[in-house]
Amino acid sequence: MIAIKSFGITGVNGYIVDVEVDISKGLPGYTLVGLPDNAVKEGKERVKSSILNLGYKFPVGNIVVNLAPAASKKEGAMYDLPIAVGILANANIITQSLNDWAFYGELSLNGELRRSNGVLPALLTAVEKKIKNVIIPADNYHEASFVSGINIYTAKNLSDVVSFFADNTAEQTRLKQVDAANFKALLADATYPCDMKYVRGQYVAKRALEIAAAGGHNILMIGPPGSGKTMLAKCFQTILPPMTFQESMETTKIHSCAGLLDAEHGIVLTRPFRCPHHTASAVSLAGGGKYARPGEISLAHNGVLFLDEMPEYNRSCLELLRQPLENYTIMISRASMTVEYPASFVLVASMNPCPCGYYGSRINRCKCTQTQIQRYLGKISGPLLDRIDLHIEVDQVTYDDLTNDKLAEDSATIRERVTKARAIQNDRFYQTKIHSNATMDTAMTKKYCTLSVEGENVLKTAFERLNLSARAYTRILKVARTIADLAGSEEILPEHISEAISYRSLDHFNRGANE
Ligand SMILES: Nc1ncnc2c1ncn2[C@@H]1O[C@H](COP(=O)(O)OP(=O)(O)O)[C@@H](O)[C@H]1O
Ligand SMILES: [Mg+2]
Ligand SMILES: [Zn+2]
Repeated sequence: MIAIKSFGITGVNGYIVDVEVDISKGLPGYTLVGLPDNAVKEGKERVKSSILNLGYKFPVGNIVVNLAPAASKKEGAMYDLPIAVGILANANIITQSLNDWAFYGELSLNGELRRSNGVLPALLTAVEKKIKNVIIPADNYHEASFVSGINIYTAKNLSDVVSFFADNTAEQTRLKQVDAANFKALLADATYPCDMKYVRGQYVAKRALEIAAAGGHNILMIGPPGSGKTMLAKCFQTILPPMTFQESMETTKIHSCAGLLDAEHGIVLTRPFRCPHHTASAVSLAGGGKYARPGEISLAHNGVLFLDEMPEYNRSCLELLRQPLENYTIMISRASMTVEYPASFVLVASMNPCPCGYYGSRINRCKCTQTQIQRYLGKISGPLLDRIDLHIEVDQVTYDDLTNDKLAEDSATIRERVTKARAIQNDRFYQTKIHSNATMDTAMTKKYCTLSVEGENVLKTAFERLNLSARAYTRILKVARTIADLAGSEEILPEHISEAISYRSLDHFNRGANE
């Protein structure tokens, strides 16, 4: 029996899998045990055909492949390479000791190694378990270049792997070893698909988005069609602070498991912006499915989840957001186990104020009745609204703003202010699990959001005048904290409170609709 090391993935984390290959005399057969799924089983044909294509005989006898530990379900095609290597070692075609080696990758029928999902989590497991050398597909090169502490080799096909281990040095092929990439340099060159400087006017919305970015607050934009909500949301990603290496690795792991990394960089360098359509299924949002994949909610990890036209989404899909908005992870129950995916994101949502879209617009007249408006707003459940700190009204830009030649402030400048405000929060929450004002719990809010008598008075007056709810109270305090941080003020001043109160549009709307 020969045991070859490889890796399995649960959720977005790897674990060691021992691929044990045994060939005994007797009736020819090929049995795969250890909870393999269909993709693993179909590997039999790919492995056989790859070996035959190399010009070797496929060993005759009863082949048994066991994937250990047997208790966990093995998914995907990346066991092809270790199984092929195990069979070749059993047939004495590879004779060198493979104790210090691990193998990971899918084979095509002609023996090419194909780009495989989950390489990053697999390699991080190798580092953790102190495996010295790993061979992966050549097309996963860039993704591997961010892992340090082990030797990683890439191969184009099975034949390269076999001749790499040839006993005769004259026959040996050299495999390309992966060099470390420079994260900082890549990050400095990262580009965004859009920029705030092209958004005309909309000063209030931009200011609110800056606050949301600075404190990690969820935000809802309410406004008529064509007012620029989608445009603003897309630009939100560009004013968030740059990713740290750790954040980038976390997000890259998720995108690696979903097979979404671009081959050129092999890493997620800018915070993701995910905008699932309102017809998206629960599985595509939350993750899971037949072949477990992270969903949109996890793909947005460390970035932005944008729900455009929020009331159009299926209620059950919106309900799915409650867990990640509270715990920053999403648990998926599958047939035999529960998988956890990271899901920490800023929620940006947009909606029309009413069915016709023009309630409150200064340009078009709304044709809806109060009942229609109320029913429309009621589509977003209270518990979800509870998690949204800022709601703002976005109206169509004026002609003057739209035709003004002057470009607005660019994203990089806004991002700098946001990053400064985040640095203050990093110091504040040093040695706690959280990083931003939005994620403060009740005790922390009490501790860090103290108000002067004057500030208390502003808040009290607003509560009585606007009939604000209890839930609005903590939201306003946290947002005021962020506004103070942006201003570099240790103290929350009355003006910070007043501004925070102004970003509670829906509290006013609801009141209006109820009257
Ligand atoms: N403030 C703005 N500055 C520049 N262009 C704008 C602005 N608002 C809207 N537009 C233009 O109008 C188009 C529609 O805006 P969009 O973001 O789709 O609006 P909404 O999502 O509110 O319906 C945008 O693609 C953009 O070209
Ligand atoms: Mg839109
Ligand atoms: Zn209307």
